[in-house]
Amino acid sequence: MVAREIAKGIFWVGALDFDRRLFDELIPLPEGTSYNSYLVRGSEKTALIDTVDPKKEEELIVNLIKLGIEQIDYIVINHAEQDHAGSLPMVLEMYPRAKVVTNEKCRDLLVALLQIAPESVMVVKDGDTLSLGDRTLRFFLTPWTHWPETQITFLVEDKILFPCDLFGFHQATSELYITNEADAYRSAKRYYAEIMMPFRNSIRGYIQKVRDLDPAMIAPSHGPVNKNPKFILDAYAEWVSDDVKNVVVLPYISMHGSTQKMVDHLTGALIQRGVDVKPFNLTHTDIGELAYSLVDAATVVVATPTVLFGPHPQIVYATYLANVLKPKVRFASVIGSFGWGGKAAETIVKMLDHVKVEVLEPVVIKGLPDEAALVALNRLADDIAKKHKEIGIL
Ligand code: FEO
Repeated sequence: MVAREIAKGIFWVGALDFDRRLFDELIPLPEGTSYNSYLVRGSEKTALIDTVDPKKEEELIVNLIKLGIEQIDYIVINHAEQDHAGSLPMVLEMYPRAKVVTNEKCRDLLVALLQIAPESVMVVKDGDTLSLGDRTLRFFLTPWTHWPETQITFLVEDKILFPCDLFGFHQATSELYITNEADAYRSAKRYYAEIMMPFRNSIRGYIQKVRDLDPAMIAPSHGPVNKNPKFILDAYAEWVSDDVKNVVVLPYISMHGSTQKMVDHLTGALIQRGVDVKPFNLTHTDIGELAYSLVDAATVVVATPTVLFGPHPQIVYATYLANVLKPKVRFASVIGSFGWGGKAAETIVKMLDHVKVEVLEPVVIKGLPDEAALVALNRLADDIAKKHKEIGIL
């Protein structure tokens, strides 16, 4: 890749990873990702903000060499995760006089994860500033914008915010800036669902803080640079709010067709009542799409057959994931079919301990759904529609 100037004297020096298909060996990356590192030249000092994933460290170094950077004074690390801090040892080898700049918690993680010498770190606190001569970096601690040690960095004179994971999205693109906000909205919402949603309550407090800074540009550590910060700040404000939409998310598995029939019937019954439904067959669902749909759905109904004495393992996996992502769903239920018994519904409900939901009476039946089962599914559709009406979304 090539270094590119995002504003006068400020360069993107990161790496694009078009080929990466999984993040944390878990999250599918249909658009690849980027690891954005930025070089800020002041009249007296030069700072590097974040590094890149270690498998791309050569690209970062080549970018710096091609720009003719002989001296880096500060390496700001906003987040200790390896996709941003992992090349720090290599950069320190190249620029041994550089001081690492980060907060205390992040320093401790850098020491633990990358064996960085603690004495090479200059510790900053919330609101501290660092002069580069004619430019000033200001640091704000923003714990839980992924990990507990995360911070954001603001370049005061140019009004550029470097928020690391926050406000970015996974996309490898040759475009330096966001050019299509509708496309960016979708990618950013998916990223929010996968990475940021569990920290919704913390992030809510940071949005006003960032609005008060009135950034002219947001330069995240994943995805293109954003020249219209209002776009992403408004989107985040919507996602972290308590507002939900008239949507039922319906993840399901069916082994022999009975649960499938129940899903089909419930889907039709909900549509008839004016409720939007998003069924996800987990045999081939992209879990990023499932997470995306959970950002603002009012209700989730889990549909599972019984395997041995409990829910299908694929359903257990998806329920576990949904539970730790902590979506703002208000209502939940379980439907499904069994052959000789089991406690699938109870197991699923017990797993939803991270989400504050009202459980609507499950519909779990033996074998193929008969007339009584269809009536029970209609009753569940009625219950869901009634709840959606009560909270004013239907
Ligand atoms: Fe992009 Fe939390 O690392």
